[in-house]
Amino acid sequence: MVNGRASSFHFQASARSRFLARTSRSSIPAFIFVLFTFSIFVFIFSPKQIADDDVTKPTFTVNSRQVIEDQLWNSPFNDHFYPCIKPTNRYEAPQNWDRYITVRSNGGLNQMRTGISDMVAVARIMNATLVIPQLDKRSFWQDSSTFTDIFDERHFISTLQGDVRIVKQLPKELESASRARKHFTTWSSMSYYEEMTQLWRDYQVIHVPKSDSRLANNGLPLDIQRLRCRTLYEALRFSPQIEDMGKKLVERLKSHGRYIALHLRYEKDMLSFTGCSYGLTETQAEELRIMRENTNHWKMKKINSTEQRIGGYCPLTPKEVGIFLQALGYPPSTWIYIAAGEIYGGDVHLLELRSRFPNLVFKETVATPDELKSFADHASQTAALDYIVSVESDVFVPSYSGNMARAVEGHRRFLGHRKTISPYRKGLVEVFDKIERGELKEGSSSLSSLVTRMHKFRQGAPRKREGALPGIKGRGRFRTEEGFYENPFPECICHKK
Ligand SMILES: *[C@@H]1O[C@H](CO)[C@@H](O)[C@H](O)[C@H]1NC(C)=O
Ligand SMILES: *[C@@H]1O[C@H](CO)[C@@H](O)[C@H](O)[C@H]1NC(C)=O
Repeated sequence: MVNGRASSFHFQASARSRFLARTSRSSIPAFIFVLFTFSIFVFIFSPKQIADDDVTKPTFTVNSRQVIEDQLWNSPFNDHFYPCIKPTNRYEAPQNWDRYITVRSNGGLNQMRTGISDMVAVARIMNATLVIPQLDKRSFWQDSSTFTDIFDERHFISTLQGDVRIVKQLPKELESASRARKHFTTWSSMSYYEEMTQLWRDYQVIHVPKSDSRLANNGLPLDIQRLRCRTLYEALRFSPQIEDMGKKLVERLKSHGRYIALHLRYEKDMLSFTGCSYGLTETQAEELRIMRENTNHWKMKKINSTEQRIGGYCPLTPKEVGIFLQALGYPPSTWIYIAAGEIYGGDVHLLELRSRFPNLVFKETVATPDELKSFADHASQTAALDYIVSVESDVFVPSYSGNMARAVEGHRRFLGHRKTISPYRKGLVEVFDKIERGELKEGSSSLSSLVTRMHKFRQGAPRKREGALPGIKGRGRFRTEEGFYENPFPECICHKK
């Protein structure tokens, strides 16, 4: 279903994992022997230590060891599910509409990607030709990249030719025509956009200054939903340079075996926006507060950091992530790729993760400075590399929810429910505080079973997208719905009976 370059990439990756699976099967006897010898050694030489110590060095048998490995790395049970994004047979080819929608996409990379996918669907609903979107250059990330720097434009246009006519520029004669400038209402339905076609009576061009979340998550025709998936998962392929570099990073990581991609959302803007200063110095907390005060479009100014944290609204700190992954049972030798911008506080904070997981890598450590040179000053392009490595990882762990975490999770569901572990932050904070008070011990089996139980159903297993929380009225309910791109099931993922 995923065609062209993207698919050959995914195919190679999965062929590779099949290959790894085969080699590991053939090495099982050797593995059993080593384990057996090891457990005898442990039994003879250190029985006392094991009995005394609450710290778990499980005297595992080979079978349970294999079960643990599977639990750590395998995808959740997802037999009989497959991507389905072909149009239904009621779907008609687009006409060459002489009306145009121009778009300025706002936000970071993933907000723009999902926004563009929505705008493709809106152009289809409104019977318009879409002009290649302009990208946000003013967001926090200050990236001057254009559409063609990040995406494969030709592929985008040709992949969607059966859906929407897309052109690189407005026709010359329309450049000076007056345009309707329209801020579409967020989470709008089909009927809203049908009504908007009235604008065509007076205008030949509609300009849309913001593209994020303009389309409802639910209640849209199947063909519109599938068009959103075709756009995001097929048409919006990254530029060849980005795809090639992303593929290299993934191959190098897989040469060590399996890896976790950790979206460590511990960046300055995120901490400032959420008002989370737990674990920071007073000077740092003050710096973040000032940044928040001075950022006009962040509405919340006065935030009680303690309450934010207790409520589960703070990104996990690097140390907390370390304790979390350790408690889930990942051994210290695990390779962890950190998908993130600059970590706030830098090495000082990372140290507390690195001390638990020394094989901690970034794109800067997996690739050479020379290889990364052309991407370096473009936050959206480096974010695209992180995106690729995250989608292809064996396990994806976001330390905080956000556009990137949601987009990666959704894409992984789409590609076969690859494992995504979503930390239950509210519950974990209680656990971390217990450790701090000495009521629980890091590395203990009680901590491990508590955290494992807490995350049993948070691993990306197949399920339908969740609707709004009960009891919330009005437009606020849209905010509580699970996002379409976070879980495109059932529209774009089908079930073989
Ligand atoms: C778009 O064009 C199709 C085909 O001509 C027509 O059936 C449909 O009503 C149009 N949609 C709108 C919203 O005008
Ligand atoms: C923040 O909230 C906590 C817990 O509710 C409370 O103990 C503390 O006094 C609050 N801090 C401020 C500065 O209001």
